[in-house]
Amino acid sequence: MLIVQLSDSHLSADPARHYRGVDVQKRLGSILADVVRYQPDLVVVSGDVSDDGSVESYQRAAEQLDALGCRWVWLPGNHDHPATMASVRELVPVVHPGGWQIILLNSWIENEEGGRLGEAQLARLRAQLADDDTPTLIVLHHPPVTVESAWMNEIGLEDREAFWAALDQYDHVHAVLCGHIHHERTCLQDRIPVMSVPAIAAQFVPDRPDFAVDNDAPGGFRLIRLSDKDASRPLLSSRVAYVYDD
Ligand SMILES: [Fe+2]
Repeated sequence: MLIVQLSDSHLSADPARHYRGVDVQKRLGSILADVVRYQPDLVVVSGDVSDDGSVESYQRAAEQLDALGCRWVWLPGNHDHPATMASVRELVPVVHPGGWQIILLNSWIENEEGGRLGEAQLARLRAQLADDDTPTLIVLHHPPVTVESAWMNEIGLEDREAFWAALDQYDHVHAVLCGHIHHERTCLQDRIPVMSVPAIAAQFVPDRPDFAVDNDAPGGFRLIRLSDKDASRPLLSSRVAYVYDD
């Protein structure tokens, strides 16, 4: 089974509006044209679909994702407006493709760049993991790890310690996927890989104390191949695909 992770398209109500120098509407089109070649079973969009939270931006994104011809799900990032997003397409908390469980978390906090899951959602996460021991991936917008960029750590996941504590007694979570940092990174935390993905929009320069944009870096997506033959021996293989502008 093949899952594609997309993130951070930062679309606006006006399709001609650029994000930090990138024509995001055009970029989304070229990335989806590449994604479709892989014929994924599921596409997961890990937040910041919109930059302005407008219904028009979600409608355009949903139309383009529908055209992929496979199931897709999305979750909110700090730039999104979850209620508007959900009015265009439901925010589902969990999906079960091909013998796997994918849990989608909402780390959005109104008017803040950082994220938080909150005690109620963490309680639902613990209950879901206790009820269902299917091999699991967890997806959320904000990275639940410290990265090598001080500015990013200030706007990461506020309750990351509680998140890892919720996973502590289970051994069926095999990876955590996130967006928000606008570049590819892999960390290992509590023996679980945490993987981010390049943004569809502009890339942020990694490993810098201060915020900076790399206008020459391409956008991309993540391919996650999951074993679907023998669920007792879960296997995961992942890589990032970059899509260069014309
Ligand atoms: Fe973003």
